[in-house]
Parts: sequence; structure tokens; C-alpha cells
Amino acid sequence: MATHSVRPGGPSIKSPLDFADSPLSQAISTQPLLLGVFLNLQDIHVSSQPTTNSWTYDYNLACVQEAERQGFELAFSRMQWLPKGGYDGEASLDAFIALGAMASATKTIHLISTLHVLYGPLHPLHLAKWGATLDHISKGRWGLNIVTGHRVVEHEMFGAPPGGRIEHDQRYSRSSELLDVVKSLWAEDENISYDATEKGNGNTWRLNNAWVSPKPLYGRPVIVNATGSPAGIEFATDQSDIIFITSPGGAHIDSALETLPAHIANIKDIARQKGRDIKTLINPIVVSRDTTEEADAYATAIWKGKPGQENIQSFGQNKHYDSDAQAWKGRKDASHKQGLNIGGNIEIIGSPEQVADQIEALHKIGIDGIQLCFYDFLPDLKHFGEKILPLLKERGLRV
Ligand SMILES: Cc1cc2nc3c(=O)[nH]c(=O)nc-3n(C[C@H](O)[C@H](O)[C@H](O)COP(=O)(O)O)c2cc1C
Repeated sequence: MATHSVRPGGPSIKSPLDFADSPLSQAISTQPLLLGVFLNLQDIHVSSQPTTNSWTYDYNLACVQEAERQGFELAFSRMQWLPKGGYDGEASLDAFIALGAMASATKTIHLISTLHVLYGPLHPLHLAKWGATLDHISKGRWGLNIVTGHRVVEHEMFGAPPGGRIEHDQRYSRSSELLDVVKSLWAEDENISYDATEKGNGNTWRLNNAWVSPKPLYGRPVIVNATGSPAGIEFATDQSDIIFITSPGGAHIDSALETLPAHIANIKDIARQKGRDIKTLINPIVVSRDTTEEADAYATAIWKGKPGQENIQSFGQNKHYDSDAQAWKGRKDASHKQGLNIGGNIEIIGSPEQVADQIEALHKIGIDGIQLCFYDFLPDLKHFGEKILPLLKERGLRV
């Protein structure tokens, strides 16, 4: 990671956390537990159990506005590039553009755009200019969720030869170089020139006397990335403010609570050794109803509607694509409690009290924020606000 511009003698690179009045600093200093929503701008279904869900911009904006009304700090979306047949209903909006557009329809929530930085190739000057623009439109609430692409079909869609996915760890060194240059463009007080072909990382772009202005309002936009591998953790602790993690074990809450403490300690330790602090965010699906019995019945109904249970509908085709992701390798280990596999990276099922207990337990083991998804997104998010959020406030997890 470059702590200074890639231009020799260039200025130091500041983050939003270096500014006490940045929206990110304000959120972190006010809230014991960050709250986010993990949107789905894709027509992908887990189960035949009916929902109001929709991939459309309007539906997802309504979710973000409801989350903002409840005081949530973060919104971002899953983003995948799948060939025909990859989405259950064929539609998928671009998360970079959709979350950026929401900046003008919201006031306080952070909007984090997921972007595959290695498909393209993407020129760092484009990214620096887009980022500075969205930073100004959002007044420092826009951020970037950097994804490096773990599915071979996606690399192929962008022109790689069959099976020609960029090697796992090289994806992080390439992305790191790109981000060093983007951050430099945001920090610089002079034009910069840079030739990536000289560095041997596989990047092919060059900049001659490149300049971006206006500068972002608080040093740079918020940077997030999702990973579970050693190379990805090195990248995140160098480059990001927030690391989006999942259970190294199974999706069941017991397995998550058992395996996360060592994982979080390792991440925080690596960051500390670099003189950095990084916030951990995890993505549970919350399946809740007023009583335990009702919540269990709801979770069971979702599970029964999955393909291979009582019906034969085929959902979630994307799960079959070849991936070299390490973040979910615990899912293949039968010694971990795996849960129902009904969406979300971990599962929180129960009455409002039980959900609050599980969220509190996650916070106690070092989770700094939860990025929530729901089976029936908008009504379940409203249920969260009415029944669960007050309990989190009573317990001092939310102000
Ligand atoms: C919580 C979480 C969310 C993710 N969301 C996305 C996503 O929306 N799009 C995507 O292409 N990859 C996504 N990924 C995959 C990561 O970006 C990464 O490619 C994958 O974890 C492989 O990297 P790793 O081996 O370093 O974990 C996600 C990963 C995690 C852990």
C-alpha cells in the first residue's frame, strides 16, 4: 500500500477517518454497532416462497430510504456478471450506477457501489473522476466496494480465453496497484504520470500528466472490500476502511459465533501491525416474526421452497459456476453447523428478542457492523425497524 502518492515526493493519502466531521467518522463515533442493508439488484431467488422483492431501482431505493429512516449508515448491493440463464429472471442492474444514483435521493446513509475493478481493463483515471464526482454529489457519503472477481465465467465474459481467470493472489496485487494510483489522483497537488506495464503486475494502463479535480471532500471516498483469504485480508488491511467478512465455518449462527472470534482477531491484528484500524462487517439474513414458533415456521417455509426440497423449481443457478473464492470454504466442511442456506452469509432466525440476542452476541465477539438482508426485503426490513431496532437501542447497541 502506498501511504503517499505514487509520484515521488507526492502528498500523503488521507482517509475519511482522518476527518472528524466526515460522515464515516460521525457514524463510527456515534454508533456502537453499524447497520447496513445488502440489496439485491438482481433477479435471483432462493425459494418459491412468495415475496415482494424486485431487482428494480425503485424497489431497492424504497429499501434504502426505509433503512435511512431507521438510521442505518450503510447500503450496498451484490453485483455479479452472469451469462444468459445466470439470473432466475434474467434481469440485473449495475450496482455502481444504481448506488451512485441513490445519492441524490437520500441524505444521510452511505451508498457503497460494488465494482469489479479488473474486468475491462478499467482505467484508474476514470475511476478517480467517477469517485470524486459521486463524492461531491453525495457530500462524502459515497464509497467503493472493490471486488476482484472469483468466477471464471465473468473473466471470460470480459474477453479472457476459456478458463483464463486471473490467478487468485495476483488479482489482489493488480487491484492494489490500481487503487494506489486512484488514491494518488485523489490526493495529488500535481499532475501524475505512471506506467503500470513497468511494474509487472499484469496491469496495462498508463497515465501521462493525469489530474483529477475537484478532490473528494474528506480525503477519499470510503473503501470496502469483501474477502476471506490471506491475500484478500492483506489487501483489505492495506487499502480499506471496512472489511466485509463471512463465517469461516457454516452459515448457522452457532458456527459463526464459534469461528469468527479467531478470524476477527487475525484481521484486527494484521491491521494493527500496519498501524491501521479496520471495521468488520458481516451479512446476516434476518428471518423474524413476533414469536419463535412463527419465525421458525417462516424459515421452514422458505427452506421448503428451495429447489431439491418439496418442489423442483430451479433457483440460484449462479451457485453452479466455477469459483476459486476462499471466503466460503467452511461451507464445504461438514463438521460446521451449516444452517438452512436460505440467503445471507449467516442466518439469524427467531423472535425479536432472539434476533437481538444473536446480534448482541455478534457484537460481543468483535463484529463492528451488520449488513442485513431479508427474505422479503421491504416488509421484513420494516418489521426489523418496528420490533428489533428498539431492542438494540435498549441494549445500547444503537443510539
Ligand atoms: C460478504 C461477501 C460479499 C461478497 N459480495 C460479492 C459481490 O457482490 N460480487 C462479487 O463478485 N463478489 C463478491 N464477493 C466475493 C469477493 O469479492 C471475493 O471475490 C471472494 O471472496 C474471493 O476472494 P477471497 O478468496 O479473497 O475470499 C463477496 C464476498 C463476501 C465474503
